[in-house]
Amino acid sequence: MPLKIGILGLGTVGCGVVKVLQQNAEDIETRTHSELQIKAILDRDLHREREISGDYLLTDQPEKVLQDPEIDIIVEVMGGIEPARTFILEALQHGKSVVTANKDLIALHGHELLDAANAAGKDLYFEASVGGGIPIIAALKESLSANQITEVLGIINGTTNYILTAMAEQGRDYGEVLAEAQQLGYAEANPSSDVDGLDAARKLAILASIAFNSRVALKDVFVEGISKITSEDLAYAAELGCTIKLLAIAKHHAEGIEVRVHPAILPLTHPLAAVKGVFNAIYVVGDAVGETMFYGRGAGSLPTGSAIVSDIMRIARNIQAKSTASINCTCYLDLPLKSVSD
Ligand code: NAP
Ligand code: HSE
Repeated sequence: MPLKIGILGLGTVGCGVVKVLQQNAEDIETRTHSELQIKAILDRDLHREREISGDYLLTDQPEKVLQDPEIDIIVEVMGGIEPARTFILEALQHGKSVVTANKDLIALHGHELLDAANAAGKDLYFEASVGGGIPIIAALKESLSANQITEVLGIINGTTNYILTAMAEQGRDYGEVLAEAQQLGYAEANPSSDVDGLDAARKLAILASIAFNSRVALKDVFVEGISKITSEDLAYAAELGCTIKLLAIAKHHAEGIEVRVHPAILPLTHPLAAVKGVFNAIYVVGDAVGETMFYGRGAGSLPTGSAIVSDIMRIARNIQAKSTASINCTCYLDLPLKSVSD
């Protein structure tokens, strides 16, 4: 039986998810031992021209996706807090696992949603909420989990890095480059989240909570965006052999956790100075592993689709593992009972 997927939101990321699922369908099936099928997609605009097509229901009625008993996995890529939060809770209550790219929601309500997923015995994954296509959440939760993480530092907003790079290297106008980033699908629906540093702050709260196994709230993060950075600032920085980047910094000190997002002057020789355009990079220090660095496209339709489909595949494997365990268990229960003395 194929696993059925419902998608909430068919914008930049929703289209990326559909494309990745379609273009890599064969490999995805081989790797998960499951056929994955998109059954229904919710969007309020049913007529917008999109570069995708497929045999799914496109609807503006949430219940047709959330209450469809055949749907196993819901992908939330609408953005915003409400109704996304309510829809995710409803999906979990209806026995569906959930994947979301929504950092606004995870940063503010992540614990409530994870508790609801635990109570329902379902998965909630959010790899795409930080770093676009970079597998940083899986790395912190799994591959680096043997470490005490002491520091997470990086460039975690693609839009502002795209703007700062174009201003520094081409002397281009801030507003013009922001419009380009919006057109390329990098910016948030409200791009002030990007330029004011809030998007990076939300992502940093998520990363620091996982890295330091603590509850780091958005309100704990000091935030300053890039809107006051001028081409002159970038030109002065260049004269000093430096550039300006929007950095997100989280440090675990003996006295507590420090979390801040702000523009910083970096020497051109610094590895983060070489991170340009929409690329993100995250430097993580662990007590056992030492220094590690993760790099890749921090925004955009396909990179974000890559992270979401990987989460969908993780859920598909979990569903497979549970059904195999129950088959094994059934076989075990089917064995004739023997007494201990046998
Ligand atoms: P988007 O292009 O604006 O797509 C969202 C889609 O959902 C739009 O078509 C929107 O319709 C629709 N929608 C929103 N609320 C709805 C509702 N209540 N009912 C029905 N449809 C609704 O946004 P996106 O760039 O794909 O981003 C989606 C999510 O992924 C956000 O949480 C974002 O932060 C996150 N994300 C984005 C990127 C990226 O590179 N873009 C990367 C990582 C994570 P309207 O257009 O009419 O509003
Ligand atoms: N607006 C975000 C960015 C999208 O530019 O990084 C990816 O989270």
